[in-house]
Amino acid sequence: MGCGTSSASQLETRGLIYIYYGTTTGNSSRLAFQFASEVRNLKFIPKIINLSEYNPKELLSQKLNVFFVSTYGMGSCTADTENFDQWLFSEERNKNEFQGMNYMIFALGSTNHEHYCEFGIRLDKRLEQLGAKRICNMGKGDAANDQTENDYQQWIHNEVQQTLQLQYPLYTCEQGQLDFSIIKIKITKEPENLLSDNLDFMAQKYINSITFSINEIKELKLQPSRGNSTLFLDLFNQNIKYKTAYNIAIYPQNSDSDIDELCNLLKFDKNMRFKIITNQKQPFPNPISIYTYLKKFCDFSGLVSKKQLIELSNMINQKELQDELLHLASFEGRDQYQNRFQNSKENLLNLIKKYQIKTLTLEKIIEICPQIQPRYFTIASSNQKHPQNIHIMASQFILNHERLGLSSSYFRTLKKGDIIRGYIQPSKFILPKNSKAPTLLIGIGAGLAPLRALIQERDYYLENNQFEKCPFQGEMKLYYGCKTEAEFLFKDELKEYLNSGTLSELQVAFSRKDPKQYVTELIAIDQLYQHFQMDGILYICGSIELGRDIQVKIADMFEYFENTDPYLTDQKIRELEENSQILTEYWG
Ligand SMILES: Cc1cc2nc3c(=O)[nH]c(=O)nc-3n(C[C@H](O)[C@H](O)[C@H](O)COP(=O)(O)OP(=O)(O)OC[C@H]3O[C@@H](n4cnc5c(N)ncnc54)[C@H](O)[C@@H]3O)c2cc1C
Ligand SMILES: Cc1cc2nc3c(=O)[nH]c(=O)nc-3n(C[C@H](O)[C@H](O)[C@H](O)COP(=O)(O)O)c2cc1C
Repeated sequence: MGCGTSSASQLETRGLIYIYYGTTTGNSSRLAFQFASEVRNLKFIPKIINLSEYNPKELLSQKLNVFFVSTYGMGSCTADTENFDQWLFSEERNKNEFQGMNYMIFALGSTNHEHYCEFGIRLDKRLEQLGAKRICNMGKGDAANDQTENDYQQWIHNEVQQTLQLQYPLYTCEQGQLDFSIIKIKITKEPENLLSDNLDFMAQKYINSITFSINEIKELKLQPSRGNSTLFLDLFNQNIKYKTAYNIAIYPQNSDSDIDELCNLLKFDKNMRFKIITNQKQPFPNPISIYTYLKKFCDFSGLVSKKQLIELSNMINQKELQDELLHLASFEGRDQYQNRFQNSKENLLNLIKKYQIKTLTLEKIIEICPQIQPRYFTIASSNQKHPQNIHIMASQFILNHERLGLSSSYFRTLKKGDIIRGYIQPSKFILPKNSKAPTLLIGIGAGLAPLRALIQERDYYLENNQFEKCPFQGEMKLYYGCKTEAEFLFKDELKEYLNSGTLSELQVAFSRKDPKQYVTELIAIDQLYQHFQMDGILYICGSIELGRDIQVKIADMFEYFENTDPYLTDQKIRELEENSQILTEYWG
């Protein structure tokens, strides 16, 4: 292998590996960190970089780069990757500029979306075009049915580990070089400093986020039950700047009862403060108390990861159980992992309880738990009407019969006057280029959120006698679907919009009323055809299934009115999307 015996100050390594990621909801960063710990075991020196912090010169000089990138919308990258995307695809790039660079890509996406992993595919083609050498086939992680982790493991297992070991033999180097990222903590009496610097990308994003005070919080459903509730939140910030139907990302927090339980099990003093000692960027601000870390930064309630299972197995004395956990964490045990953990929504806290783990240290928790990621919500208000307030409609997400999703349970603890953290970013709902075009709004459940924002936008201009400035001067119709009358959200408000003429038409389909009706049944293909003929815009928000059903309707419309061959209807729909005549936001 070409590496001699190493002295105490020297270590064996395979060299540096740069791991870039671009993410919105945290999946790519989670895998990037997981990959780093896996290649560290192979004796690589990993360096993780968010794509918003890439440095062109440095990137071009790096010999081995791995990219974890996700796709949003029609082949688009994530917001943190946009500058890199522009630089990479710029005409200024020279052919062979990337020569000498080896690369691998793990693309994240969802087969529920039409342009599956499209950004990863584009990136792969472009890197090759510019002279970089692909050393492994691209991996693809499918978020549909939560398959991303399994797909990732398959990628690592089938090709990556072997290729890396074969192509990068061990050699000896000074230890200092290797001492890259193992985290150590130091107990301190220093006060907490939640604004400390030298933070990594995700932690900096948290620090840069803004605070909102809760102006109002209330239930929107008439007969809510656990797992069937939609909260309305009115969030206030005097200096906020947003546009109608943008997205807001909100940082949830762990509950005090879960934190107490974890601290009791592991005998942590939650008031104890600690500092992080690392020569990499800091993963969260510190000095910090154990309580604040667990409350705001440590995601111990998400699906238990395979890395966590391996760590837990080291702390179990029973050999049989140990082997079982290792098997569940292995590539061979992936089906059992899905049955045992994924389907029953098992998390780290439950397993610590179940296996009576007592020796898990804080350092290990920091190493194996990802950072809490913000949850996205589509803003349900118009910035014209509510310049300093943001409305959201948050449906409760139930994980299993007893446990709610993290933000769902966090929201239940909030009351008027509380402060929450988040940030704002554009959504796919843009205002029409042609203000005279008619708009048809279609949504189900909390998918009403961005549609309500658009209705408010039109109402603002009507109310203020400035209709000539209104981006929605054509007719605006709303077709809404919900289960029952009790779940008809904002019923009175919407009826008022109809009475005042802000809405030209309001139709509601109840899927659990007798006779039941789905929202798609409200749409006739001749009406749809006429709508598009008039340059009309379709805004759709709700579940992926709703999107699929409407696509089928539009495909039928093309077949019927334009004799389009069935295999060409997709192309026609794509043209409407590219022309911003079909604007969608699906999150379920
Ligand atoms: C662009 C965008 C806009 C959105 N707009 C809205 C909106 O306006 N209104 C709205 O109500 N929602 C909206 N959502 C959805 C919202 O962001 C949240 O995803 C949703 O509310 C659930 O959040 P949660 O924290 O309660 O659940 P989470 O804790 O995030 O759990 C939900 C997901 O994580 C998995 N998961 C979590 N823990 C485990 C575990 N232990 N084991 C296995 N799996 C686990 C679940 O299977 C599920 O896939 C939007 C999403 C996006 C991307
Ligand atoms: C609003 C939205 C749009 C998406 N669009 C696409 C898409 O066009 N193509 C695709 O393959 N995946 C799409 N996805 C799926 C994400 O790429 C996938 O969930 C991925 O795991 C997210 O990674 P991240 O957490 O690193 O951002 C979309 C997801 C959301 C929420």
